[in-house]
Amino acid sequence: MCLKTFVLFVTLYSLTYSARADSQDWWKHATFYQIYPRSFEDSDNDGIGDLQGIINKIDHFPASGVDAVWLSPIFESPQVDQGYDISNYTKVDPAYGTNEILNTLIEEAHSRGVKVVLDFVPNHTSDKHQWFIDSVNGVEEYRDYYVWANAKVDEDGNRVPPNNWISVFKNSAWTWSDERQQYYLHEFASAQPDLNYRNPVVVEAMKNILRFWLDKGVDGFRIDAVPYLFENEDLLDEPLSNLPGYNSTDYEYLDHIYTQNLPETLDMIYQWRQVVDDFVTENGGDARVLMTEAYADINTTMLYFGTADGTRLGAHFSFNFNLITDLNINSTAQDVVDSVNKWLEAIPDIYTSNWVLGNHDNHRVATRLGPDNVDGFNMLKSLLPGVAVTYNGEEIGQENGEVSYEEGQDPSARDPDIFDAVSRDFERTPYQWDDSVNAGFNTGAKPWLPVSEKYHETNLKIEIATAGSSHYKVYQDLAKLRSNEVLLSGDVAIKAVTEDVVLLKRRYENDSVVLLFNKGEEAVDVDVSEDVSARNGILIKSINSTKELGAPVLPANVTLAAHEALVITDKSA
Ligand code: GLC
Ligand code: MG
Repeated sequence: MCLKTFVLFVTLYSLTYSARADSQDWWKHATFYQIYPRSFEDSDNDGIGDLQGIINKIDHFPASGVDAVWLSPIFESPQVDQGYDISNYTKVDPAYGTNEILNTLIEEAHSRGVKVVLDFVPNHTSDKHQWFIDSVNGVEEYRDYYVWANAKVDEDGNRVPPNNWISVFKNSAWTWSDERQQYYLHEFASAQPDLNYRNPVVVEAMKNILRFWLDKGVDGFRIDAVPYLFENEDLLDEPLSNLPGYNSTDYEYLDHIYTQNLPETLDMIYQWRQVVDDFVTENGGDARVLMTEAYADINTTMLYFGTADGTRLGAHFSFNFNLITDLNINSTAQDVVDSVNKWLEAIPDIYTSNWVLGNHDNHRVATRLGPDNVDGFNMLKSLLPGVAVTYNGEEIGQENGEVSYEEGQDPSARDPDIFDAVSRDFERTPYQWDDSVNAGFNTGAKPWLPVSEKYHETNLKIEIATAGSSHYKVYQDLAKLRSNEVLLSGDVAIKAVTEDVVLLKRRYENDSVVLLFNKGEEAVDVDVSEDVSARNGILIKSINSTKELGAPVLPANVTLAAHEALVITDKSA
C-alpha cells in the first residue's frame, strides 16, 4: 500500500460509524428503493414481472445497501393505469401472485433486514371495483362513495358536465353514467373514478385498508396522488392558468385552486399518520412510515410533513421531486445548487429531507441528465442529508427504453401526437439484469414493454463482474458511506464552483466528505482550497475518472475531466 493510500485508510477508519438507528428513526437516513413490479423480474415467463420474481432477486437489495423497498401497486386491477386503478385493495392481482406470495416476500425481505412499503392509491378506484359498480347502480350503502353530480344544459339544450374541471390525463374530468343519469368525477382516466372523501364511511373504509396491510407486517405506504383527495364542495369552475401553449383540453389550462391541496386533504394525511402511529403504539416494533406523492410548490409540499410546529404530523416524508422538476440536460451547476438550497431552506428543522432522481412517471435520470452524469447525481443524492430514494435501474445507470407508439401502454399517452412527449412507457421498460435473452427479465416471452437494446452494455451482471469500476459499484460504495457520521449528522453546504462544477460539502467536527462534480462537456481546472485541505483522499470516483483512489487531490488546482465526479474525504485539523 503506498503512503497516500495508507493515509486515506487511516482517515477512513478514524471516521465514526454510528450504531443501528433507533427503531423509530430507522427511516431518517434510509435508502428506499422503488420496485416497478411489472418490469422487474418475470418468474413465470408470461411477459409480466411478478412477486416471485422479486423474491428470486431478493438478495439484490441487501447487496445494494438498500434499507427498504417500495412496490408500485400489485393489487387486483384491470391495469388500465398499470395498477393505479385498483379493483380490490386487499388482494394481490393474480398476474403478480397471491397474498401468500406477498407474505413470503415480506418475510424474505425482513430476514435480510430490508423493509417493505406498499403503494396506497386512495384518490380513486378502478371503475371495476365493486364499490363503483354498486354506486353506479344506486345501491344505498355505496351511493355516495364517489363524486357524482347532475348534468348542466348548455344554450343549445345539450347535456354538459357540471363544471370546467379537466383530468390530469386530458379532457373533462367528468364522465356521464347512463345508468345513474349523473356525471362522476375522475381526476385521472375515466376508468379511475374519484372516491368521495366527504363521506365518513369512505374515510373509514380507506383507513381499514391501511390497517389490513399493517397487520400483514408491511413497514409503511407510499401514498399516491395525494393532492387530489378533496375537491371544492360547490364544484366551482377553476380559473384559467393563462399558461402559454395549452388549450381547453389540457390539464395545465386551468389553475387548480378547487381540486388540489385543499385543507381537508392535508387533514386526511394527518389522520392517516395517526393510523400508522396508533398501530405502532398498540403493536410495538419499528416506525411504520408514510411517504406522500405530491407535485406541488415547495410550501405546500412542506405541509404534507405536518404543521410547521409539529403539533400535527403527516407523512414521514413528502417526496422532494425538485431534482426532477427543476433540472434538465442543460442545467448549470448553479441550477443544481438552487434546487437543493430551495429545499433545505424551506424544510422545518423538525422534518427530514429526501432526494428523488426518478420514478415510473419521469424519464430516467441517465436520460434526463445524461448517461455520463449518472455517478455524479447518484453521489449528490447519497451525500445530501436525509432519505435517498432510488428508482429501480438507477443503480446501474439504466437509460430510458425505446418504445414505439404501437407498443405503448400508458393511458395518458394513447394519442400518436403526444406519445413521444408525454408517454411514461420509456422509463418503465424491463430491468436489465444480464446479457441473456430479454436482459434476464424472463426466459423469452414477449415482455409487456420491450426490453431496451442497450441491455447488452448496461446490465447488473456486467457491472458486478467488471474488474474495473461501474455505476453499480459506485452505488454500493455510496450506500456504505451513508452510515458514516459525517453523512448522518454533518452540516451541509453546496455551491457552484464554475458554470458546470458543483461542490457539496458535509462536515462533522473535523471530518468532511466533499463531492466535486463536473457535469459539463469540458474538462476544467478548479481551485477548491477554500473547502478542501491537503489532508484529503479520493474515496469514490465516477467510472470515467482516471484518478487514483486513495490519492489526494491538490486543492488549489484540481483538473476535472468532463462528467468526472469525486467523493473526497478530508480530515482537516
Ligand atoms: C400517480 C402515479 C401515476 C398514476 C397516477 C394516477 O401519479 O405515480 O403513475 O398514473 O398517480 O393514479
Ligand atoms: Mg409473470
